[in-house]
Amino acid sequence: MIKDSAIMKIPGPKPVPVIGWRGNMLQFLRDPLTYLNNAHRTYGSVVAFARGGNSNLLSSVDHCPGTIFAFGSANNQAILTQPDVYQSSPMSSTKLGHTPTTRLLSGIFSMNGDKHRQQRRLMMPAFHKKRIETYRDDMAAMTDRMLESWQAGSQRDVHADMMELTLQIACKTLFGVNVAAGDQNIGAMIEKWIKSNLNPLITAKVDLPGTPYRKFTTLSTQLDNAFHEILERKRKGGDDGDVLSMLIQTRDENGEQMTEDELVGQANILFFAGHETTANALTWTIFLLNRHPDIYERVMQELDSVLGGATPTVEQIGQLELLDRVIKESLRILSPVPFLLRVAMEETELNGYRIPVGTEVIYSPYITHHMPEIYPEPERFSPDRWLTINPSAYEYLPFGAGIRMCIGATFASMEAKLVLAMMLQRYHLALPPDAKVDRSVMITMSPKNGLPVLIQPQKRQYAVHGAALQGNIRELVHV
Ligand code: HEM
Repeated sequence: MIKDSAIMKIPGPKPVPVIGWRGNMLQFLRDPLTYLNNAHRTYGSVVAFARGGNSNLLSSVDHCPGTIFAFGSANNQAILTQPDVYQSSPMSSTKLGHTPTTRLLSGIFSMNGDKHRQQRRLMMPAFHKKRIETYRDDMAAMTDRMLESWQAGSQRDVHADMMELTLQIACKTLFGVNVAAGDQNIGAMIEKWIKSNLNPLITAKVDLPGTPYRKFTTLSTQLDNAFHEILERKRKGGDDGDVLSMLIQTRDENGEQMTEDELVGQANILFFAGHETTANALTWTIFLLNRHPDIYERVMQELDSVLGGATPTVEQIGQLELLDRVIKESLRILSPVPFLLRVAMEETELNGYRIPVGTEVIYSPYITHHMPEIYPEPERFSPDRWLTINPSAYEYLPFGAGIRMCIGATFASMEAKLVLAMMLQRYHLALPPDAKVDRSVMITMSPKNGLPVLIQPQKRQYAVHGAALQGNIRELVHV
């Protein structure tokens, strides 16, 4: 049992009787955003909510003396500008030897220091603006196919639709795999693998037929094989114009390339990082527009004047200024990634508190984005606030900040604008009158039971249906 005296001095909730810090963890995991809000309001900007006893919440670090929250832009800056002190940690142990599972887990999220910098340098060319612009045609074709399949008058779960669309776009643009044309659905395999990896029972490592661990390792082998097949195909066939083709070719300044293991790890992580996040951003933006008819109407006017019904070109996407502010505000108010984790790999000091080695440190874009001193009336969805404010990188960080900032931010932003512009011009998506929207927060924030919408022809009538929307999303945004 580690009881570091430093962590005991940081203010925070008492352990729950009998079960101790595990009780605090359970409360946090049940409803992370309420817990973060209460902790911030009650204890201030540095809060220890689990102390002692290898209290790992999310990392696999050894001898964890506790988990703390660090709130606000000054703490964000301290954490994100010292990446060698506050290191990224894999959510699951990668200390399993040289296996398919380790390969799949050892992408950029679990790398630090020189290795992280080298891999990031090798990945950057595939995410340069000019390269990303070449994905516009694939994104448009897949969106068009989805919209063709919708029928006016029907009700759909638009979150499920956005998950499917962003899966298809990710498979094509990241790996050159066309799921709609019958290629192996590697995206669905990754989804299944991620879900299986989140099953807490796999940590027991009971390797018998039918156990969660055996199912997980079998999935790992299948997924690993699928990646090797794709890589082999690409090595024979050259550049398919996708991200993975670029990663295979890129060399750093020393002439070094990614190894086969690194390519598998990075490919897997890219899908994981880019798929659900973008689907959630799209879903929340549709939801927010639907509940703010005045802004929705202005967005439609902008689409009419810039596009006049056409699919936007790359240049036109850059001209959709209001839509840009809408997405920026949506990412602020309903951040798809509401909190993130680091581990202090050396003893350090944060806002006057000593932080022992091994401490898990959680920083939160969500809490920062809802601070009234940075964003007056933070729960108000107000895209026009961006005409007059210019927050620092540590005050507005839906994509993180510093050397670990999201590599796919430009990619996601272009995809979101293109999909929304095409979808809104074609259909009016209305929440049914009895809609209930709850949030679900695991690593990302999504609508718990999907987002039901009635598909109607875009008849430019923007009244809100069902003024009394139900659900705990109302705690985050006035709707
Ligand atoms: C709206 C959509 C997205 C959001 C909100 C988002 C959010 C984030 C955040 C908050 C981080 C920083 C994590 C940290 O501090 O450790 C991150 C990192 C990352 N994201 Fe995204 N992301 C999005 C889309 C994408 C896309 C489309 C891709 C790729 C296709 C991508 C690839 C990555 C990668 C590789 C990293 C790790 C960077 C590193 O550790 O150096 N993301 N993302």
